[in-house]
Amino acid sequence: MNLKGKVAIVTGGNSGIGLAIVLELAKQGANIVIDYVAHPEATEALERQVSALGDRAIGVQADVSKIADLQRMIAAAVKAFGRVDIMVNNAGVETRTSVLDTSEAQYEKVLAINLKSAFFGTQLAAQQMIKQGGGGRIINITSVHEDWPMPGNAAYCLSKGGMRMLTRTAGVELAPHGILVVGVGPGAVATPINQSTMSDPALLHKLNAAIPLGRMARPEEIASLVAFLAGDGASYMTATTIFADGGIMQGSPGL
Ligand code: BGC
Repeated sequence: MNLKGKVAIVTGGNSGIGLAIVLELAKQGANIVIDYVAHPEATEALERQVSALGDRAIGVQADVSKIADLQRMIAAAVKAFGRVDIMVNNAGVETRTSVLDTSEAQYEKVLAINLKSAFFGTQLAAQQMIKQGGGGRIINITSVHEDWPMPGNAAYCLSKGGMRMLTRTAGVELAPHGILVVGVGPGAVATPINQSTMSDPALLHKLNAAIPLGRMARPEEIASLVAFLAGDGASYMTATTIFADGGIMQGSPGL
Protein backbone atom coordinates (compact mmCIF):
# COMPACT_ATOMS: atom_id res chain seq x y z
CA MET A 1 0.00 0.00 0.00
CA ASN A 2 1.96 2.82 -1.48
CA LEU A 3 -0.27 5.66 -0.25
CA LYS A 4 -1.27 4.55 3.27
CA GLY A 5 -2.55 7.52 5.30
CA LYS A 6 -2.31 10.02 2.42
CA VAL A 7 -5.21 12.33 1.63
CA ALA A 8 -6.21 12.83 -2.02
CA ILE A 9 -8.73 15.06 -3.77
CA VAL A 10 -10.00 13.92 -7.18
CA THR A 11 -12.01 16.46 -9.18
CA GLY A 12 -14.69 15.02 -11.43
CA GLY A 13 -14.29 11.95 -9.26
CA ASN A 14 -17.59 10.12 -9.67
CA SER A 15 -17.32 9.06 -13.32
CA GLY A 16 -14.92 8.10 -16.09
CA ILE A 17 -11.19 8.36 -15.45
CA GLY A 18 -11.82 10.19 -12.14
CA LEU A 19 -13.82 7.28 -10.73
CA ALA A 20 -11.06 4.81 -11.63
CA ILE A 21 -8.49 7.11 -10.00
CA VAL A 22 -10.54 7.28 -6.78
CA LEU A 23 -10.65 3.47 -6.59
CA GLU A 24 -6.98 2.99 -7.41
CA LEU A 25 -5.77 5.58 -4.87
CA ALA A 26 -8.05 3.97 -2.28
CA LYS A 27 -6.60 0.52 -3.10
CA GLN A 28 -3.21 2.05 -2.36
CA GLY A 29 -4.46 3.18 1.08
CA ALA A 30 -5.39 6.85 0.56
CA ASN A 31 -8.42 8.61 2.02
CA ILE A 32 -10.27 10.51 -0.69
CA VAL A 33 -12.36 13.58 -1.31
CA ILE A 34 -14.57 12.82 -4.31
CA ASP A 35 -15.52 16.07 -6.05
CA TYR A 36 -18.58 15.89 -8.31
CA VAL A 37 -21.29 18.11 -9.81
CA ALA A 38 -24.05 15.66 -10.74
CA HIS A 39 -25.25 12.18 -9.75
CA PRO A 40 -24.91 12.16 -5.95
CA GLU A 41 -26.04 8.51 -6.00
CA ALA A 42 -22.95 7.56 -8.04
CA THR A 43 -20.78 9.38 -5.49
CA GLU A 44 -22.46 7.59 -2.60
CA ALA A 45 -21.95 4.21 -4.28
CA LEU A 46 -18.27 5.07 -4.76
CA GLU A 47 -17.92 6.16 -1.11
CA ARG A 48 -19.18 2.70 -0.13
CA GLN A 49 -16.68 1.02 -2.47
CA VAL A 50 -13.87 3.03 -0.87
CA SER A 51 -15.02 2.04 2.65
CA ALA A 52 -15.07 -1.60 1.56
CA LEU A 53 -11.39 -1.18 0.67
CA GLY A 54 -10.75 -0.02 4.25
CA ASP A 55 -10.31 3.69 3.52
CA ARG A 56 -12.48 6.73 4.04
CA ALA A 57 -14.07 8.90 1.35
CA ILE A 58 -16.32 11.93 1.41
CA GLY A 59 -18.22 13.33 -1.54
CA VAL A 60 -18.17 17.10 -2.00
CA GLN A 61 -20.46 18.69 -4.55
CA ALA A 62 -18.38 21.52 -5.99
CA ASP A 63 -18.22 23.21 -9.39
CA VAL A 64 -14.46 23.41 -9.82
CA SER A 65 -14.77 26.20 -12.38
CA LYS A 66 -15.65 28.47 -9.43
CA ILE A 67 -12.95 29.51 -7.00
CA ALA A 68 -15.36 29.68 -4.05
CA ASP A 69 -16.34 26.03 -4.67
CA LEU A 70 -12.68 24.98 -4.89
CA GLN A 71 -12.00 26.73 -1.57
CA ARG A 72 -14.93 24.94 0.01
CA MET A 73 -13.68 21.60 -1.35
CA ILE A 74 -10.15 22.08 0.08
CA ALA A 75 -11.65 23.19 3.41
CA ALA A 76 -13.83 20.05 3.47
CA ALA A 77 -10.74 17.87 2.89
CA VAL A 78 -8.87 19.55 5.75
CA LYS A 79 -11.89 19.32 8.03
CA ALA A 80 -12.44 15.62 7.31
CA PHE A 81 -8.86 14.37 7.06
CA GLY A 82 -6.60 17.15 8.41
CA ARG A 83 -4.51 17.72 5.27
CA VAL A 84 -4.16 17.41 1.48
CA ASP A 85 -1.26 15.36 0.07
CA ILE A 86 -2.43 14.63 -3.48
CA MET A 87 -4.50 16.87 -5.72
CA VAL A 88 -5.77 15.34 -8.97
CA ASN A 89 -7.15 17.97 -11.36
CA ASN A 90 -9.22 15.63 -13.50
CA ALA A 91 -12.56 17.32 -14.25
CA GLY A 92 -12.97 17.94 -17.96
CA VAL A 93 -15.45 18.42 -20.77
CA GLU A 94 -15.29 18.82 -24.54
CA THR A 95 -17.64 20.32 -27.14
CA ARG A 96 -16.37 18.79 -30.39
CA THR A 97 -16.55 22.15 -32.14
CA SER A 98 -13.97 23.70 -34.45
CA VAL A 99 -12.23 27.07 -34.52
CA LEU A 100 -14.85 28.23 -37.04
CA ASP A 101 -17.95 27.20 -35.12
CA THR A 102 -17.17 27.38 -31.37
CA SER A 103 -19.48 29.85 -29.61
CA GLU A 104 -18.39 32.17 -26.82
CA ALA A 105 -20.42 30.14 -24.31
CA GLN A 106 -18.78 26.86 -25.44
CA TYR A 107 -15.32 28.42 -25.30
CA GLU A 108 -15.86 29.81 -21.80
CA LYS A 109 -17.34 26.58 -20.48
CA VAL A 110 -14.51 24.36 -21.70
CA LEU A 111 -11.77 26.73 -20.60
CA ALA A 112 -13.37 27.24 -17.17
CA ILE A 113 -14.03 23.58 -16.37
CA ASN A 114 -10.77 22.22 -17.79
CA LEU A 115 -8.14 24.94 -17.33
CA LYS A 116 -9.32 27.52 -14.80
CA SER A 117 -10.23 24.70 -12.41
CA ALA A 118 -6.78 23.14 -12.75
CA PHE A 119 -5.04 26.49 -12.30
CA PHE A 120 -6.89 27.48 -9.13
CA GLY A 121 -7.05 23.86 -7.93
CA THR A 122 -3.25 23.82 -8.16
CA GLN A 123 -2.96 27.20 -6.45
CA LEU A 124 -5.25 26.36 -3.54
CA ALA A 125 -3.92 22.83 -3.02
CA ALA A 126 -0.34 24.13 -3.10
CA GLN A 127 -1.17 26.84 -0.54
CA GLN A 128 -2.56 24.15 1.77
CA MET A 129 0.45 21.84 1.18
CA ILE A 130 2.87 24.68 1.99
CA LYS A 131 0.91 25.53 5.13
CA GLN A 132 0.91 21.96 6.43
CA GLY A 133 4.50 21.23 5.29
CA GLY A 134 6.00 18.06 3.84
CA GLY A 135 5.46 18.72 0.13
CA GLY A 136 2.80 17.10 -2.01
CA ARG A 137 1.76 15.89 -5.43
CA ILE A 138 -0.39 17.65 -7.99
CA ILE A 139 -1.45 15.55 -10.97
CA ASN A 140 -3.13 17.18 -13.95
CA ILE A 141 -5.12 14.91 -16.22
CA THR A 142 -4.55 16.40 -19.65
CA SER A 143 -4.67 14.52 -22.96
CA VAL A 144 -2.58 13.68 -25.98
CA HIS A 145 -4.27 16.85 -27.19
CA GLU A 146 -2.15 19.02 -24.90
CA ASP A 147 0.33 18.77 -27.75
CA TRP A 148 -1.41 17.17 -30.71
CA PRO A 149 -4.17 19.00 -32.61
CA MET A 150 -7.63 17.43 -32.67
CA PRO A 151 -9.44 19.06 -35.59
CA GLY A 152 -13.04 19.71 -34.56
CA ASN A 153 -12.28 19.95 -30.81
CA ALA A 154 -10.58 23.33 -30.68
CA ALA A 155 -11.42 24.72 -27.24
CA TYR A 156 -10.59 21.35 -25.68
CA CYS A 157 -7.14 21.38 -27.29
CA LEU A 158 -6.55 24.95 -26.04
CA SER A 159 -7.51 23.97 -22.52
CA LYS A 160 -5.22 20.94 -22.53
CA GLY A 161 -2.37 22.97 -24.04
CA GLY A 162 -2.87 25.41 -21.17
CA MET A 163 -2.70 22.56 -18.66
CA ARG A 164 0.56 21.48 -20.24
CA MET A 165 2.12 24.87 -19.46
CA LEU A 166 0.43 25.00 -16.04
CA THR A 167 2.14 21.69 -15.22
CA ARG A 168 5.52 22.96 -16.34
CA THR A 169 5.28 26.42 -14.77
CA ALA A 170 3.80 25.30 -11.47
CA GLY A 171 6.25 22.38 -11.38
CA VAL A 172 9.16 24.81 -11.51
CA GLU A 173 7.64 27.34 -9.10
CA LEU A 174 6.57 24.75 -6.51
CA ALA A 175 9.70 22.55 -6.62
CA PRO A 176 11.36 24.45 -3.72
CA HIS A 177 8.37 23.46 -1.57
CA GLY A 178 8.72 19.77 -2.42
CA ILE A 179 5.48 19.87 -4.38
CA LEU A 180 5.74 17.82 -7.58
CA VAL A 181 3.45 18.66 -10.48
CA VAL A 182 3.00 16.12 -13.26
CA GLY A 183 0.60 15.81 -16.18
CA VAL A 184 -0.95 12.54 -17.31
CA GLY A 185 -1.88 12.55 -21.00
CA PRO A 186 -4.31 9.78 -21.93
CA GLY A 187 -5.23 8.91 -25.50
CA ALA A 188 -8.74 7.61 -26.20
CA VAL A 189 -10.26 6.10 -23.05
CA ALA A 190 -13.57 4.23 -22.76
CA THR A 191 -15.44 6.82 -20.66
CA PRO A 192 -18.61 8.93 -21.04
CA ILE A 193 -16.66 11.75 -22.78
CA ASN A 194 -16.22 9.37 -25.74
CA GLN A 195 -19.78 8.00 -25.70
CA SER A 196 -20.67 9.38 -29.13
CA THR A 197 -17.67 7.61 -30.70
CA MET A 198 -18.26 4.37 -28.83
CA SER A 199 -21.89 4.18 -29.88
CA ASP A 200 -21.03 4.62 -33.57
CA PRO A 201 -19.49 1.32 -34.79
CA ALA A 202 -17.93 2.86 -37.91
CA LEU A 203 -16.32 5.69 -35.93
CA LEU A 204 -15.13 3.31 -33.21
CA HIS A 205 -13.56 1.04 -35.83
CA LYS A 206 -11.76 4.03 -37.36
CA LEU A 207 -10.51 5.14 -33.94
CA ASN A 208 -9.28 1.66 -32.99
CA ALA A 209 -7.54 1.36 -36.35
CA ALA A 210 -5.66 4.60 -35.63
CA ILE A 211 -4.33 3.27 -32.31
CA PRO A 212 -1.21 1.07 -32.60
CA LEU A 213 -2.44 -1.04 -29.64
CA GLY A 214 -5.73 -1.41 -31.53
CA ARG A 215 -8.17 -0.39 -28.77
CA MET A 216 -9.20 2.37 -26.41
CA ALA A 217 -7.78 2.38 -22.89
CA ARG A 218 -9.75 1.20 -19.88
CA PRO A 219 -9.96 3.95 -17.23
CA GLU A 220 -8.02 1.68 -14.85
CA GLU A 221 -5.05 1.82 -17.22
CA ILE A 222 -4.83 5.58 -16.63
CA ALA A 223 -5.55 5.32 -12.90
CA SER A 224 -2.60 2.97 -12.33
CA LEU A 225 -0.27 5.60 -13.77
CA VAL A 226 -1.78 8.29 -11.52
CA ALA A 227 -1.26 6.07 -8.46
CA PHE A 228 2.37 5.55 -9.45
CA LEU A 229 2.89 9.30 -9.86
CA ALA A 230 1.33 9.94 -6.45
CA GLY A 231 3.71 7.50 -4.73
CA ASP A 232 7.32 7.27 -3.61
CA GLY A 233 8.46 5.70 -6.89
CA ALA A 234 7.87 8.99 -8.71
CA SER A 235 9.88 11.20 -6.32
CA TYR A 236 12.07 12.66 -9.10
CA MET A 237 9.34 13.52 -11.58
CA THR A 238 7.98 17.03 -11.98
CA ALA A 239 7.07 19.68 -14.56
CA THR A 240 6.45 17.14 -17.29
CA THR A 241 3.69 14.99 -18.83
CA ILE A 242 3.57 11.21 -19.04
CA PHE A 243 1.46 9.90 -21.92
CA ALA A 244 -0.55 6.68 -21.83
CA ASP A 245 -2.01 6.60 -25.33
CA GLY A 246 -1.53 3.16 -26.86
CA GLY A 247 0.81 4.84 -29.35
CA ILE A 248 -1.95 6.98 -30.91
CA MET A 249 0.19 10.10 -31.25
CA GLN A 250 2.53 8.20 -33.56
CA GLY A 251 -0.41 7.03 -35.71
CA SER A 252 -2.89 8.98 -37.85
CA PRO A 253 -4.71 12.22 -36.87
CA GLY A 254 -6.98 12.33 -33.80
CA LEU A 255 -10.61 11.26 -33.83
C1 BGC B 1 -10.55 13.20 -26.24
C2 BGC B 1 -11.30 12.21 -27.09
C3 BGC B 1 -10.40 11.67 -28.22
C4 BGC B 1 -9.09 11.19 -27.64
C5 BGC B 1 -8.11 10.69 -28.70
C6 BGC B 1 -9.25 12.60 -25.79
O1 BGC B 1 -8.54 13.53 -25.04
O2 BGC B 1 -11.34 13.52 -25.11
O3 BGC B 1 -12.43 12.83 -27.62
O4 BGC B 1 -11.04 10.60 -28.87
O5 BGC B 1 -8.49 12.21 -26.92
O6 BGC B 1 -7.95 11.56 -29.77
